[in-house]
Parts: sequence; C-alpha cells; structure tokens
Amino acid sequence: MPLTRKAYRAAILHSIADPAIVGIEASYEYFEDGLLVIDNGQISAVGHASDLLPTLAADIEVTHYQDALITPGLIDTHIHLPQTGMVGAYGEQLLDWLNTYTFPCESQFADKAHADEVADIFIKELLRNGTTTALVFGSVHPQSVNSFFEAAEKLDLRMIAGKVMMDRNAPDYLTDTAESGYQESKALIERWHGKGRLHYAVTPRFAPTSTPEQLALAGQLLGEYPDLYMQTHISENKQEVEWVKELFPERKGYLDVYDHYKLLGERSVFAHGVHLCDDECARLAQTGSAVAFCPTSNFFLGSGLFNLPMAEKHKLNVGLGTDVGGGTSFSLLQTLNEAYKVMQLQGARLSPFKSLYLATLGGARALRLEDKIGTLRPGTDADFLVLDYNATPLLSYRLKQANDIAERLFVLMTLGDDRTVLQTYAAGQLVHQR
Ligand code: GUN
Ligand code: ZN
Repeated sequence: MPLTRKAYRAAILHSIADPAIVGIEASYEYFEDGLLVIDNGQISAVGHASDLLPTLAADIEVTHYQDALITPGLIDTHIHLPQTGMVGAYGEQLLDWLNTYTFPCESQFADKAHADEVADIFIKELLRNGTTTALVFGSVHPQSVNSFFEAAEKLDLRMIAGKVMMDRNAPDYLTDTAESGYQESKALIERWHGKGRLHYAVTPRFAPTSTPEQLALAGQLLGEYPDLYMQTHISENKQEVEWVKELFPERKGYLDVYDHYKLLGERSVFAHGVHLCDDECARLAQTGSAVAFCPTSNFFLGSGLFNLPMAEKHKLNVGLGTDVGGGTSFSLLQTLNEAYKVMQLQGARLSPFKSLYLATLGGARALRLEDKIGTLRPGTDADFLVLDYNATPLLSYRLKQANDIAERLFVLMTLGDDRTVLQTYAAGQLVHQR
C-alpha cells in the first residue's frame, strides 16, 4: 500500500499523564505552532512546526489552521444510544425517570429501521461534538448493537458497545431472560468483538434489573472471551442503593453484588458511583475497574456530587461520561463545564489540565486503550480534533483576553460545545466538518 502522509499545522495540546500523579506542568505537551504528521491513519510525529517541517518531503500536503487548537479526539465512557430521543425528559429522579420515559423510549428499538435511523443520528452527534470513541449502552434488542456497529464500521471508528441484559423489574416488552441474554450477547461478540476498531461490552443494565442467574452468566461470558468489556451502573441514586440492599440482602453492599458475580476487572466500567464508600473505591481500584463520572446527568436527575478527590486518593481510573439521555449534552466540553461545578460545590478545584486528561487520556486508560487513543503520541490512531477559537463571537472575544494555554483551555471548556468543533478526524479521515 502506498504511504499516504498528511500534516496539520496549528497550536497542538495533549495530555500525557494524570495531573493528580505527576503534577500539572508534567501532565501535558503544548506546541504553540505545532505540527501533527499522519501516516496511513496513524500519528507518526507531533512537535514544533519549526522542527518537523524540514523533515517532510516537498510534496506533502500541510493544512494550516489559524486560531485553532488540535487535541486528541474526546472519549465518552458512558452513553446510551436508545435514549437519544429522550434527552431532557422532565421532572423525575432515576427510578421514576426509567419507568416513565426511558423504558418506553428504548422499546422503539424493537424495530430495526428505527434502530438504524437513531444509530445514524447518534454517531453524527458524537462526531459533531468531537467524541471519537464511546462506551455505549444499546437497548435490550440485539439489533440496537448491530445498527450501531454497522454505522461505526463504515467510518472506521473505535467504538465499544453492548446489548442491555435485563431480566426483571422492567416491563415485559423490554426484558430478555438469563439464557437468551447470554446467547444473544454471545452471538454479538462473535460477530463484532475485535472486528476493525470495534469492541464488545457485556452490559447488565444494573443490579436491580438482573436476576442472580443473569449476573452469573454475564460473569461467565467475561471469562469466555479475551479483552471483553463490562459496563453497568452503580450507586447513582440513594433510593437505588437502598433497593439493591433489599434485593441482595446477602451481599455486603452494591459493589459486592457485582464483585460476587465476577464483574469487576480491568475492562469494567461502572457509571456514576456518586454514593460509593471509601472501601468500594479501594476495591474498584484494586481490581483495575474504572468509574465513569457523569456530571450533567448527576445534576439533571438530582443524583448527587461525584467525589473525584476520593477516587484520586485511591488511584481509581476515572473517565468522563455524558450519560445521554440522563445527561443533557453530547458535548464533553459542556460535560467538563458541569464537572468543574461539581468540584466547586465540594470546595475543590478541577484544573483545566485535569479536565483535558479526563476527557482524553484518562478515558483511554479507563478503557485500557491508552496505546491506541487518548493522546497524540506517534504510533497511536489518528483520532483528533480541530477546535475553533472563533467558534462564537463571545468565545472569540473572551479568548482575546486569555494570556496562556491554561486560560484558553479553561474558557474553551466553559463556553465551548459542538460549535467549537471545526473538524473531527478518525483514523486519519475527516468524519465531521462544521
Ligand atoms: N441505571 C439503570 N439504568 C439507567 C439508565 O438508563 N440511565 C441512568 N442514568 N442510570 C441508570
Ligand atoms: Zn447510564
């Protein structure tokens, strides 16, 4: 195959370590006038334009952006495909919200044509917002995952998804059985896991909607295939936590239910974790599990404030999640805007470089994909964004008053959204142009 080489010149910023571990200054690389070189869908070099331009052959196409910032593609570690049509559903907290809005909305995925239509809208929305990798809940219907992966495969996106397993405490029209959930998941794994840049996640919705038999079979599946993911919800809402105690009185607590059924591990991502205790954070960290921090959802559903400093204390892997449709935006920039407020309400600070880490490398680490995505390091997938400093009149004016990259980054995360994303590239291909 002939080498296809392209280069992109602009300010370039990426996270290279967790600020909580190495300190802020050592956590990022910034090139005021930078160059990103892409060979056949992978990054081959990143650095100062003055150093790299002389190394390029004369005929290499260099795209030069003014007033723009190149960053890695953003990583959403928790989102629901079949809830795209119900973002912003009024009035309820988690358990009533599920029954009133979520389950009826997800039931529409019984129709494959509907699933195809929503998958297309959903992927466009991810890319418009600069999200190049997401860990995605389907509905209980296998076709939700087929529709999603078919659309993701066409664009060669790195995506992870799974069909919901749910065999109790939900309407009959939306439940599988322990056995059918296992068999349907297995068929999807055989079809999709490891195909191109696609990965499968075993997806028990949350402890209250699975019988012990189903949780046991979910754990069994994880043991049957290498590198499978597991995604579920945990300790999002106080009533939910109480309900789990009633349903599983023999277990020490919510996390212990999942632990008992062998659902913890290096590719396990637990959404929310707002009401986790210290011991549970320690156990999650010990097993290499990760938590998806979903601030817009936690505010919208009145769930509570995620304790990021406690997670950091335990060196627990944390990614960022939009949790659409409990969350109110597909934009991880807007999600970081709310994450900052979650910390403010707890008397803590969220540095813009920690925010960048959460939305990129931190997410990649939560998904054990840091050798492939989350940074602009040579040898990784060319999934990157061009952010526009002049996206809106206010952003443009505000950024003119900003003195350094820390301030510019913070303002981008406070005022930025889908309008800020000028272009999105996946595996070196332009997949969104504003
Ligand atoms: N817990 C169980 N199911 C869901 C869901 O769909 N959304 C959220 N936010 N929490 C859940
Ligand atoms: Zn969720």
